[in-house]
Amino acid sequence: MTDDLSFDDPQCFEPLDPEPRLLMGPGPVDVYPRVLRAMSNSMLGQFDPQFTEYMNQVMVLYRQIYRTHNHWTFLVNGTARAGIEACLTSLITPGDRVLIPIFGRFGHLLAEIASRSGGEVIPLETTWGAVFSADQLREAVLQYQPKMLALVHGDTSTTMAQPLHDIGPICRDVGVLTYVDATATLGGMLVDTDAWCLDAVSSGLQKCMSGPPGTSPVTLSERSAELIKGRRHIEAGIRSTDFKEVEGTVIQSNYLDLAMLMAYWSPMRLNHHTESTSMLYAARECARVVLQEGLEHGFARHSLASRALREGLVAIGLELFGDAEHRMDNVTGVCIPSAIRDEAAIRSSLLNDFGIEIGTSFGPLQGKIWRIGTMGYVCRKANVLRCLSALEYVLDKNGFSVRAGAGVDAACAIYNNE
Ligand SMILES: Cc1ncc(COP(=O)(O)O)c(C=O)c1O
Repeated sequence: MTDDLSFDDPQCFEPLDPEPRLLMGPGPVDVYPRVLRAMSNSMLGQFDPQFTEYMNQVMVLYRQIYRTHNHWTFLVNGTARAGIEACLTSLITPGDRVLIPIFGRFGHLLAEIASRSGGEVIPLETTWGAVFSADQLREAVLQYQPKMLALVHGDTSTTMAQPLHDIGPICRDVGVLTYVDATATLGGMLVDTDAWCLDAVSSGLQKCMSGPPGTSPVTLSERSAELIKGRRHIEAGIRSTDFKEVEGTVIQSNYLDLAMLMAYWSPMRLNHHTESTSMLYAARECARVVLQEGLEHGFARHSLASRALREGLVAIGLELFGDAEHRMDNVTGVCIPSAIRDEAAIRSSLLNDFGIEIGTSFGPLQGKIWRIGTMGYVCRKANVLRCLSALEYVLDKNGFSVRAGAGVDAACAIYNNE
């Protein structure tokens, strides 16, 4: 494999025909076939009444997914990071104090984006594999009195989930905005936007929503929406002559300006970018798949698969990573045993011999844990068993002795007891 292909390299002209894979890493995961089919529908113009009606339907569907009455629930085109950046850059004005509890890679990402947006970032760090207690968060909010608390719900880098139900109400009482990155949890674990008093939440499709990466559902409370509207700017070429600029600081990004996006997603349909048509079809179908199964049912399916996978991994003789009380229900961290000298060889055998992808890790966990996802469409008994049996085989062949069937037996016992 090389990235140095010549102009006329015949490989470039061959049809795409990827080897099928079972994607059991921390995302992306296999896309639900209904979603792929929805994406192949024909293009519509962005102001075609059929299309704008689909936009309205997407707003209705994602209110249910986010468990919110927030009117401003819509899509930001781009991967989950675009949704994060749109929320942070549209809510933070230069000089605003932003408190960011960091318990993994994606907390660091929030800190970087908040700081690039001009925020005065106050990072609060804990070891990877742990989360913050409600008391720690409450004390930090009261001590630093930030404009915003920004944190990750489930950080796939550590496989830990931060409980959020306590902190939103505290922030709301003292007038602090709460932003949450729910990329890895939406559709797989409860994200209770209104009950938890969250002011802005963003996500992606490529994990528990069973879609491809490329668009980011976001939801904004009335309070956030008012702040953002106070910064509303309209591009010169599409302003009407009677338009008056508002007084707030113009949002630094054009593409990720939520004020302009809200105008586009309102009956005004004020032109911004061209909504990514096929990704909107995908997002709509992802939401239908999740809601037709039922949110609670989906959460239970994720939780059951994780329990079965973990029991299987322990029965194989592996140690699970991180604080047992705060593990995510859709991705499991497992310590790489010291008997395994080349962890990449294990992943490569899983991929090449069994067609299964699992995740490596980075930062302080590099070379220390694998991350195995049971997300969305992939989160099924057959896949859990397939992954465990492949792992048993590959570990055993690479110097870590495993009784054949140990992991599969333990996982089946969990499924059979349900
Ligand atoms: C918790 C979390 N936030 C943000 C992201 C970034 O998502 P994307 O790669 O879609 O921009 C990821 C991706 O793995 C994630 O797990």
